[in-house]
Amino acid sequence: MQIEVIVNLKKIKMEVDANEFLADTLRKYGILSVRKGCDTTCCGLCTVWIDDKPTLSCTTLSFRANGRKITTIEGVHKEANEFAQILVAEGAEQCGFCSPGFIMTVLAMKNELTNPTEETIVHYLTGNLCRCTGYMGQLRAIKTYLGVL
Ligand code: FES
Ligand code: FES
Repeated sequence: MQIEVIVNLKKIKMEVDANEFLADTLRKYGILSVRKGCDTTCCGLCTVWIDDKPTLSCTTLSFRANGRKITTIEGVHKEANEFAQILVAEGAEQCGFCSPGFIMTVLAMKNELTNPTEETIVHYLTGNLCRCTGYMGQLRAIKTYLGVL
């Protein structure tokens, strides 16, 4: 079947199977920042925004995105880069495999929350796993980025 979506502000027609998931469709169409770690809603690597809300693309059927706006890290390059610099400064960037999904969640948090507490930040990030960093550097970077030191 064919769907039409807006990916990073560009309208695209996509051919998808009825049982195809959005992470696979996006990669098929060259959006290679979208990664899969678990395929079972556990790791957050596949996080993209659908209509500006963080969504796990590994378990979102592609046809459900029809007519909707999808944003990946390629579409928020400037903001992602700004946050990535802070991550590096805090020593929180290691293998980087989790970064695209993690950064999409952090940028969504910035859009959604005003002056979050540490507990709220941690709760918001519950779905994004990182096997390398131990999270403390990431937490420092997020607090700096959100201006809630
Ligand atoms: S690949 Fe989607 S949550 Fe892990
Ligand atoms: S930096 Fe390696 S998984 Fe997060």
